Amino acid sequence: MADVKMSARQVRVHYGDNEALHGIDVDIRRNEVLALIGPSGCGKSTFLRCLNRMNDSIEGCRVSGSVTLDGVDVYDPALDVVQIRARVGMVFQKPNPFPKSIYDNVCYGPRIHGLTRNRTELDEVVETSLRRAGLWEEVKDRLAAPGTGLSGGQQQRLCIARAIAVSPEVILMDEPCSALDPIATAHIEELIDELRRNYTIVIVTHNMQQAARVSRRTAFFHLGNLVETGDTETIFTNPGDQRTQDYITGRFG
Ligand SMILES: Nc1ncnc2c1ncn2[C@@H]1O[C@H](COP(=O)(O)OP(=O)(O)OP(=O)(O)O)[C@@H](O)[C@H]1O
Ligand SMILES: [Mg+2]
Repeated sequence: MADVKMSARQVRVHYGDNEALHGIDVDIRRNEVLALIGPSGCGKSTFLRCLNRMNDSIEGCRVSGSVTLDGVDVYDPALDVVQIRARVGMVFQKPNPFPKSIYDNVCYGPRIHGLTRNRTELDEVVETSLRRAGLWEEVKDRLAAPGTGLSGGQQQRLCIARAIAVSPEVILMDEPCSALDPIATAHIEELIDELRRNYTIVIVTHNMQQAARVSRRTAFFHLGNLVETGDTETIFTNPGDQRTQDYITGRFG
């Protein structure tokens, strides 16, 4: 199908002897925002990390099944994992700017990937990325200041700018707003709505209002299984599975 950007089939993850994901099947469509919801410990972060091989670096973690990006196996040993992560970027729960200037945070990726030829091009990438992340106006006069000196919400937007600076195709976000206040959260949510035009986004959230606001489709995880995936509105108003119903009505989780 032409509109499928990433696809997971029978994805299983073990941490040592413990099977954390029991065979996940899901398609992520091009330019959609897909929300992943479910109780703590159900495997949302684990699944997200499967999509750009972040689990590779976790000791004792084994992934099986298939994950494809534009039909190409992400786990093909011939592929360079650094390239995969440039195409499938990630934003974490806690803003994690590097201990570098705002400018250097954003140009870090383009530099290591050799995406720009000179300072002018680099300047352009930095400005475009900061604009897209909705941060340019707030930082344009202090690009040399440390990224860690920004507010939490600004730091998270800086991390989003850093992620988009390498022109990823997919952006994975693991509870990107959970450390932010409601105003900073609203800002990131508006941003996600903007970014959707250019990128495919998968977002983990514990906030069901947020899932309803930002996503077109939602996948509900429970105890290492993907229970159901559907239009966000349907999942929240008329889910097909009792476990989803119990979760959205606050009976557990
Ligand atoms: N690095 C790890 N080593 C061992 N087990 C892990 C590791 N990371 C996660 N797990 C286990 O895998 C299961 C799924 O964890 P995961 O972090 O993916 O859940 P989650 O849905 O993201 O939860 P939360 O909402 O609390 O972030 C849990 O049982 C967890 O204990
Ligand atoms: Mg998690």
